Amino acid sequence: MRTHKNCTASGLEGVVVAQTDLSEVDGEAGRLIIGDHSIEDLTGHVSFEDVCALLWNGALPSDAARAELQDQLGKARVAAASLLPNISAAVSLPDGMDALRTAVAHLPLLGDVNNAAVVGAAGVFAAAWQRRQQGLAAVPPDPSLPFAADYLRMITGVSPTESQTRGMNAYLVTVSDHGLNASTFAARVTTSTGSDLVSSIVAAICTLKGPLHGGAPGPVLDMLDAIGTPENAAAWIENELRSGRRIMGMGHRIYRVRDPRAAVLERAVSSLEQAGLSSSRLALARAVERVAESALAAKYPDRPLRANVEFYTAVLLDSVGLPRTLFSPTFGVSRSAGWCAHVAEQRAVGKLIRPASRYVGAVQPVVHA
Ligand code: COA
Repeated sequence: MRTHKNCTASGLEGVVVAQTDLSEVDGEAGRLIIGDHSIEDLTGHVSFEDVCALLWNGALPSDAARAELQDQLGKARVAAASLLPNISAAVSLPDGMDALRTAVAHLPLLGDVNNAAVVGAAGVFAAAWQRRQQGLAAVPPDPSLPFAADYLRMITGVSPTESQTRGMNAYLVTVSDHGLNASTFAARVTTSTGSDLVSSIVAAICTLKGPLHGGAPGPVLDMLDAIGTPENAAAWIENELRSGRRIMGMGHRIYRVRDPRAAVLERAVSSLEQAGLSSSRLALARAVERVAESALAAKYPDRPLRANVEFYTAVLLDSVGLPRTLFSPTFGVSRSAGWCAHVAEQRAVGKLIRPASRYVGAVQPVVHA
């Protein structure tokens, strides 16, 4: 068995490998800009359609343009739903990210595979997977509804409340794009070889699946459940750290301060709570965050490890009624908007991404018997 003991890895930390005008992540200041607007100005103020327009067309849409995009996304959901009978095995896979990856891979390459087709399909496939998990039939999309409302309706089978839709929109907008994160990088690498949009999105979904990237919000909720009450937080967190396990929802490759998305999502949960949408976990989450932050600061005094986007994602998506197994696929649904934008930008740049590696092995003659 090879040990790879001579190999070290920087994980490309701090290496700039692309220019983009889609989003900017300032890890020191804790600032996120998407399409010229701060995340604080977007979340809670614009819809998922708006942020799609921002990423794909370069500006927030007029009312007419928003209606047109809503219509395109609605038609895309209907088209994707018509594929479901043929991809039954894909949406029956036990893991939601596996199901999303395999279902999206079935999107036809010929014809009108545009950004809306990809995002609409991702929503339909994630919702259909959830229904299948519960032994229920898929709910046909309602193309007249805005994306967030129809996504919730396709999952639960009932029309969401205005508060639930607002919460869903807040989430979808917040995580729609985030600089050159690992899955976006994977999409851009795939595109840079001249590959197609669907293949690039599939590569991105595969990359998002890992717990160090998009797989953390479900485990965050598991952690809150295991802790149960604020008084148990310190002992539980200490035990995790002593056992060498990571605290999910804490730490980030870029942010050295609190992830600004944690703040906007925390506010979104708080406003849902004020609107009467039960979120018994908010107070617990805040207490656990405080304890985890100080325990991590004590263990890693030189590396600030603070709440990332996944921490309050877990509480928000739980509040709007999503089961935790659907958290990561829902992240994929939202981020597919950003992936599509990056694919288009990478195509416009048109340069193969091909970094180098340094060989640290030996060179020895082959001894022939
Ligand atoms: N809990 C405990 N320790 C953590 C930690 C966490 N959440 N995040 C980082 N660390 C520790 C690592 O164990 C490592 O310690 P070591 O040097 O003793 O081995 C050190 O901090 C540096 O971690 P590293 O993995 O090199 O940093 P990174 O920039 O590559 O990691 C994350 C970024 C997000 C992968 C990491 O913070 C993490 O695993 N967080 C938990 C998972 C999560 O929330 N993912 C969602 C990200 S949005």
